[in-house]
Amino acid sequence: MKSIQVNIDHALGSAVTKADIEALSSEAAVALGHVNNGTAAGNDFLGWVKLPTETPASLLDDIQATALQLRKDCEVVVAIGIGGSYLGAKAVIEALSDTFAPCETPVIFAGQNIGEDYLHELMQYLQGKKYGIIVISKSGTTTEPAIAFRLLKDNLEKTLGKAEAARRIVAITDAHRGALRQLATEEGYKTFVIEDNVGGRFSVLTPVGLLPIAVAGFDIHALIEGAIRMEKATAHPGLENPAELYAATRNALYRAGKKIEILVNYNPKLHYFGEWWKQLYGESEGKDHKGIFPAAVDNSTDLHSMGQWIQDGERTIFETVLSVETTRHSVIIPTDEANLDGLNYIAGLHVDQVNKMAELGTRIAHVDGGVPNLHITIPALTELYLGELIYFFEKACGISGYILNVNPFNQPGVEDYKRNMFALLAKPGYEKETDAIKARL
Ligand code: PA5
Repeated sequence: MKSIQVNIDHALGSAVTKADIEALSSEAAVALGHVNNGTAAGNDFLGWVKLPTETPASLLDDIQATALQLRKDCEVVVAIGIGGSYLGAKAVIEALSDTFAPCETPVIFAGQNIGEDYLHELMQYLQGKKYGIIVISKSGTTTEPAIAFRLLKDNLEKTLGKAEAARRIVAITDAHRGALRQLATEEGYKTFVIEDNVGGRFSVLTPVGLLPIAVAGFDIHALIEGAIRMEKATAHPGLENPAELYAATRNALYRAGKKIEILVNYNPKLHYFGEWWKQLYGESEGKDHKGIFPAAVDNSTDLHSMGQWIQDGERTIFETVLSVETTRHSVIIPTDEANLDGLNYIAGLHVDQVNKMAELGTRIAHVDGGVPNLHITIPALTELYLGELIYFFEKACGISGYILNVNPFNQPGVEDYKRNMFALLAKPGYEKETDAIKARL
């Protein structure tokens, strides 16, 4: 049975040797134990670890039925959320969608920015359309989605009336706490719960990600099936555990001065997967003035922008390449009699064969240029393999954070900007902070 594969052969060299990785394996095994058994800081946020095998069939059925109802009632569904309440669904939907043909019921996103023009243009786009809303906020108090929801809810209620609007709104939030829970109860929205022990960035395999993905028409059972496979494959210690291997290798590279990891794809459908991965690792590891800086590029596009830096800039980087083995469609490069563009030497090849040579050529060049390369092969962009990939990166993130000796499951740093923003906006309760920040302006 095929599965995603992790290969570190080209990450080894002058910076880090096989012996360095093996030396880290006992730390990695201890870190895996913390993730599996909840024996370290952040252990109240480990609900995602056994989530795939413990997801009840009844929950998947409920999500599927809710998605079907939204698809029946709506031409388009707006998923409102930010960070972990946005990126996972966006990443999976983008990876599985046809680039130019919208899904039967397109899922579009709001609440992931505070763009006035974005929201205006969104409301213009929704004008005259039958639309529904999935509003997602674990805390139920995040400003960006709250603004977007206030606007769209108001718009929907004015168009349909309160009762009918309520039938088109689904809220995904904490079981008891937060403004969104209270609103959902008062207005009678259909709701799903984000469990206390699952942090936002680890929530894509909960209703947070699964409902928008199901509305877009993709197979959430296969996604969970893939995650279950990876839950089993990453359960036990040892470097044959792919999550442990990846976590140990990236930490060995970090200790050797490689402070930046670039997630590289050669498939434009994976752009948002890179965004999801950046949040997962950035928010989990960037603490106590430590942590690998996660960056991402889309090749070959970015070979024409970031390629120079990666090949020849400061040698503080390593790459993790996502390589999709098969394409969904077949496009052959045609022969041209005149051959003015000089491309007849590749006529008859699939476009992907050229893409693969771009990938291989780049990997060799980067390794030669002092950029260690990890390589992850994905048999195809399907729900099953995306489920594997998501769980793989989540598990490796927990292990890696513990090797780094940080709590991978909190995010104290994201509160600072909020405090300043609330102070600047004179939010009630922030009077002292408002005075203090105004004095600095
Ligand atoms: O990973 C996290 O916890 C964050 O990125 C949150 O997902 C993000 O801040 C959104 O929070 P909430 O779902 O509470 O609105």
